[in-house]
Amino acid sequence: MPKRYYIVTPIYYVNATPHIGTGLTTFVADVTKRYHKMRGEDPFFLTGTDENGLKIYEAAQSAGKDPQQFVDEISQIFRDVWQGMKIEYDRFIRTTGEDHTKAAQRVFEILREKGYLYEDTYKGWYDVSSETFYKESELVDGKSPDGNEVRWVEERNLFFKLEEFGPRLKKHIEDNPEFIQPVSRRNEVLSFIDQGLRNVCVTRKNPGWGIPVPGDEELVIYVWFEALINYIAGAGWPDGDWQSLWPADVQWLGKDILTRFHATLWPAILMGLDLPLPKTLATHAWILIGGEKISKSKQNVVLPLVLAEETAQISGCSTDIAVDAVRHYLAANMPYETDSTFSYEDYYQRFNSDLANDLGNALNRSLSMAHKFIGDTVPTAEIEPPIQQAIDKAKADYEEAMEQFRVDRATESALGLVRFLNKYIDDRAPWKLAKSGDPALGGVIASMLLALRTSEALFRPIMPSAADAIAEQLGQSPLTNWSEVGSPDSMKAGAKMQTPQPIFPRIDLAAALPPQPESNEQPKPEGKKQETAKSEPEAKPKIDFEQFMNVELKVARIIEAEPVPKSSKLMKLKVQIGPEDRQIIAGIAKAYSPEDLIGRQVVVVANLKTAKLMGLESQGMVLAADDEDGSPILLQPDKEAPEGTSVH
Ligand code: MSP
Repeated sequence: MPKRYYIVTPIYYVNATPHIGTGLTTFVADVTKRYHKMRGEDPFFLTGTDENGLKIYEAAQSAGKDPQQFVDEISQIFRDVWQGMKIEYDRFIRTTGEDHTKAAQRVFEILREKGYLYEDTYKGWYDVSSETFYKESELVDGKSPDGNEVRWVEERNLFFKLEEFGPRLKKHIEDNPEFIQPVSRRNEVLSFIDQGLRNVCVTRKNPGWGIPVPGDEELVIYVWFEALINYIAGAGWPDGDWQSLWPADVQWLGKDILTRFHATLWPAILMGLDLPLPKTLATHAWILIGGEKISKSKQNVVLPLVLAEETAQISGCSTDIAVDAVRHYLAANMPYETDSTFSYEDYYQRFNSDLANDLGNALNRSLSMAHKFIGDTVPTAEIEPPIQQAIDKAKADYEEAMEQFRVDRATESALGLVRFLNKYIDDRAPWKLAKSGDPALGGVIASMLLALRTSEALFRPIMPSAADAIAEQLGQSPLTNWSEVGSPDSMKAGAKMQTPQPIFPRIDLAAALPPQPESNEQPKPEGKKQETAKSEPEAKPKIDFEQFMNVELKVARIIEAEPVPKSSKLMKLKVQIGPEDRQIIAGIAKAYSPEDLIGRQVVVVANLKTAKLMGLESQGMVLAADDEDGSPILLQPDKEAPEGTSVH
């Protein structure tokens, strides 16, 4: 069987349920899998749960549960959460499973036969929280370097001769620059090796939980030692067709478990077994909340599916789309070399700016203009060179980023393409081409649609449901074949496009976020008129909130503008509010010419009773402020927002 692209994540401790931090490692692995699947590389993605060890045993005890029942329950929660997050793993391995147990015991036997294990008394400190042994000299104020409690251990154990592997490990890391990524972490590992590796205690006294040492039931295999073996056990080693998977092409992991475990102990075990090493250990930094590591005791845990549910409620999108929004956030903010901080504010702002605005506008504008100016079928026309270049560049940048395991940069290149598209629409102004009957119109619309189609594919590994929705609105089947991405052939001409539907409805940040602390600004003294206001208009009677909410204010785009004959003040406008067009007669002709107006976004009162001005029907009102001399200053959204977006 040909070698498959093999992706693995660390296996998660089942003493807690997954939060957005643990979700991150699994999620970036999922994006990697989906991308390689599109490339036709038949990827295989392994994840699972780490269920042995003292930490889990003690957690089960304090929960008053039988350990097996305890791990069964929490491991199931992991699978449920991953399913909710659309994680497409191919195998979920559990270290209490039979094949993992057998593989771990087999590794133990081989290494013992080869003389890599020896017996001695272990005397030292043990940190149960990270399941790590520490020397006295490594403790900081009597605690582990991470600040965890440690306990004294003195027991007969077996040791692995890690020290022997130091020079080989160092050489491998130096000869294979892609082995540890990023480079800064690679340097950390090299200096750790230079300080001298210590032999590792690889057994613990059997508490009645864990994988027994073959032939010595008084001992269990040290949890880290056996947990690492899941990567080959999950591939089918020693009996199955493991060579179709191993060595892993990428092992994703967080920075905390690189140096001591994945970059030293794990490759040394593989060297001892004469097995090849994984190609790349792709390491990411942490997501912090409130400047701290996420943890139950700090009460700063954010659960990915709860966050998605909140997003769905606040924005009104479906849960499926909200999950994509969480995935997008994790992708765009992936902490790579340095930690990143999660905040609701940042999360919702990104939702609005990247998804509701940049992507939403590109989709909405392209589709509504296509419908309006050329009809509902996908045209056949030459793609304009600037768009084709932008598409090719976005695809190439995306590929390079994924090759370097920079999911954040790949996301940025997808976003860059939709931002470019929005700018292209402004520059090429299809409404003007339509008005003047310019033959370039077909090519411009086809170019806009191809850019959208390409963004669908680039976003697909990150936001699979949103990508499906884009394809559907374009009247296309999902674009899943990477070699077609960016090619004009990826867009089936003649297909019927749908009218645009916002996929990510804009979030009202004021409603979504808790109130901000009061500002320090001094209140203005009452009764004193502001000096800048020329003349205070008469105060209107106070209205209540309901009355205000009865006024339907909407974002609209002016698509046609012409002066009303025989009037110096009035301009006849055609505006687009969502899918519908309206005629509005506005008193703005003295201040604005039609060229200033066509293509621009404004805010309109959409539920005003129809009025007649100079014999022409006006179906709304455009909002404007009054200049000093009374001439109008049009209000415009601070950023592009989809036509039809409510204003309040
Ligand atoms: N069970 C061990 C791994 C054994 S692999 C043979 C373990 N489990 S863990 O559940 O504590 O962590 C698993 C992964 O989640 C690690 O990659 C870790 O870095 C990652 N994260 C846990 N919290 C995190 C953040 N707050 N931010 C980013 N990643 C974090 O270690």
